Amino acid sequence: MKFFIDTANLDQIREAQDLGILDGVTTNPSLMAKEGIKGKENIKNHYLKICEIVDGDVSAEVISTDYDGMITEGQDLAALHPQIVVKVPAIKEGIKAIKFLSSIGIKTNCTLVFNQGQALLAAKAGATYVSPFIGRLDDTSTDGIELISKIVEMFNFYQFETQVLAASIRHTMHIIQCVEAGADVATCPLSAILGLLKHPLTDIGLKQFLDDYKKVNG
Ligand code: E4P
Repeated sequence: MKFFIDTANLDQIREAQDLGILDGVTTNPSLMAKEGIKGKENIKNHYLKICEIVDGDVSAEVISTDYDGMITEGQDLAALHPQIVVKVPAIKEGIKAIKFLSSIGIKTNCTLVFNQGQALLAAKAGATYVSPFIGRLDDTSTDGIELISKIVEMFNFYQFETQVLAASIRHTMHIIQCVEAGADVATCPLSAILGLLKHPLTDIGLKQFLDDYKKVNG
């Protein structure tokens, strides 16, 4: 499973990259706003800074909701850097835009996916990734991980090449559940990734090893 980090914070992206396990980055307009990045040029420059830090795919989201706007914006974003993946919402105009952008070789990430039908249409349109939002589904008493499993099963059955990118991950256990569900990618906050390392027996064991070493070696 690939690991993406879900943030526009450059320090966190660097920290995850330094860990040596990072395969890409996802951003969205809310995450950019959280970092205080505003204005088209500043936003584009920020995407370029992210591309300089990581080697893999970097999702950059369109803000247009009409077909013409989405494809103009999508082409502009894709022209910024070869690592850019154009993130498009799972709405009617978005599916049409994904079809066009895919047909001219631009990678796409269909975002705000909350059911199998949206994932099916995105895959039929040729999306590189679909992003089911598991945390936001969990927030509405709906099992987000179950949706990941169903989409993985559907894509495997019909042999779609579209990758399932589990998004809206809130904690470490979501990552483990995504592994069990067969997600291709999980985009996670840094805290959830680092949470994978937490175990008291590791800390206790390490302390004991170091104490025993000191007893003999001083
Ligand atoms: C995915 O690409 C989105 O940026 C993100 O995962 C949304 O997560 P949230 O529900 O925590 O805002």
